[in-house]
Amino acid sequence: MARFERDDDSMLPSPVDIDDDIEPVLRDRISAKRLKHSVAVASLAEALAIRHGLDADGARRAGLLHDLWREEGYACIPEAERRGLALPDWADGNPVMLHGPLAGAEAAERFGLGPAWCNAIAVHTTGRNGMTAEDLVIYLADHACAGRKGPNVAALRELAFKDLELAACQMIDDLVLNLVSAGALLWLPSAEARNDLLLRTRL
Ligand SMILES: [Fe+2]
Ligand SMILES: [Fe+2]
Repeated sequence: MARFERDDDSMLPSPVDIDDDIEPVLRDRISAKRLKHSVAVASLAEALAIRHGLDADGARRAGLLHDLWREEGYACIPEAERRGLALPDWADGNPVMLHGPLAGAEAAERFGLGPAWCNAIAVHTTGRNGMTAEDLVIYLADHACAGRKGPNVAALRELAFKDLELAACQMIDDLVLNLVSAGALLWLPSAEARNDLLLRTRL
């Protein structure tokens, strides 16, 4: 069972241990750097789940598994086709946009993860309209975990412990602005997620 060093930032939870059934699969499928990222996501997801009264085991396992297909590149396309998953126009031909849905499907079939957390894995890159608490936990854990750089990451991580919707809305604002400044296509599910969260947090 792997154990990673704790980060210096006191707002970050201690790294979780990797579940025995998941560890060999991760070591076979992703790099050491991404394994460290996945543990960071799992650690923050577990802490956020505990704070917000969600299933901590599900959150940790979803965090560990969320990037299972992240390093497959174009090799993921046949598997996506087998599952009837098409690359949307807004993905601009980038097969990376398939890695969440593929990991969510494998998490259900191979690891028995429940549908709420598998759906959260599936949408962790972009978010979606009507994000659930589980979606928000994995989205925020992925984008605000140890190792993520950005001027607002630490503040949004802190906010996530108080208000998942508000933190995710602000996180999506940052990510959408990054897409605009890079001249990239907007991810339509992120725009829908942002509009929905903006309305929800205004009430
Ligand atoms: Fe990812
Ligand atoms: Fe990730």
